[in-house]
Amino acid sequence: MKTITTLLATAAVAAAGSFAYAESHADPVKMRQETMKTIGGGMKVLSDMAKGKTDFDSAAATAALATMAEAAGTIPTVFETEAQDAESEAKDDIWSNWGDFVSKAEALKAATTEASVSEAGDMQGVMGSVGAACGACHKAYKI
Ligand code: HEC
Repeated sequence: MKTITTLLATAAVAAAGSFAYAESHADPVKMRQETMKTIGGGMKVLSDMAKGKTDFDSAAATAALATMAEAAGTIPTVFETEAQDAESEAKDDIWSNWGDFVSKAEALKAATTEASVSEAGDMQGVMGSVGAACGACHKAYKI
């Protein structure tokens, strides 16, 4: 009896887990937009520092870059499913130029990974290199 109860409990946990997975992965447009919002949030931390709106903080800037690099690494996964809806600002060209799109995601990952922010004077250069990676992809693939 104990074994059966354990099995049932295990199955229930597994079912709940896959339901949660299906739920969060049900809307590919929303999912990729959340990823972009995370990346945009990191960019705001950096740009506020670059503009002097917030005090330079090497640890905070480094953490923002790490968050952005991690999110950039998931771009190929979250954009993999070709999907469009009224909220989407993604161009169909993404899926007909998939290799190029992925290389632009990799360029963002490289820019955020390679950026070093040990002093306030580093911020302008980082804004330039990271911003260029955003711009290259948005220009080609965002409405
Ligand atoms: C590899 C391509 C690519 C790169 C690199 C990229 N983006 Fe995006 N971004 C997109 C696409 C495509 C959309 C539109 C997504 C949609 O609406 O489905 C988007 C949308 C956004 C949005 C709007 C999200 C929303 O609320 O719907 C923000 C903010 C954003 N990007 C910020 C950035 C920033 C900041 C960077 C650089 C640090 C960046 N992105 C780099 C492709 C990219």
